[in-house]
Amino acid sequence: MSNWTDVAAEADLFDGAGIPVAPGGRDIALFSVNGEVFATSNLCTHGNASLCEGFIEGHEIECPFHQGRFDLRTGAATFAPCTEPIQVWPVKVEGGRVFLDLA
Ligand code: FES
Repeated sequence: MSNWTDVAAEADLFDGAGIPVAPGGRDIALFSVNGEVFATSNLCTHGNASLCEGFIEGHEIECPFHQGRFDLRTGAATFAPCTEPIQVWPVKVEGGRVFLDLA
């Protein structure tokens, strides 16, 4: 069962950058890449870094602390020192709003 939750305005997103959102107290990062929006856990699995402050390269987010990387589409760790995946959530953009399926 899906549970779409309105988390941000599409206008709050900037291509090639991330922003933090906190639906229900969760720490989630939204990223805009070539007009597509991705939602991942904002916390790096290697340390206490906010991934929304990292750098987007292609479809990967590079952690600002030790330059480990994750795939924004799957959450898979793609570059050391990151080895554990991050959680990702389905995203839809409708009527200028960004919704996440938090179910
Ligand atoms: Fe993210 Fe180390 S805290 S790579």
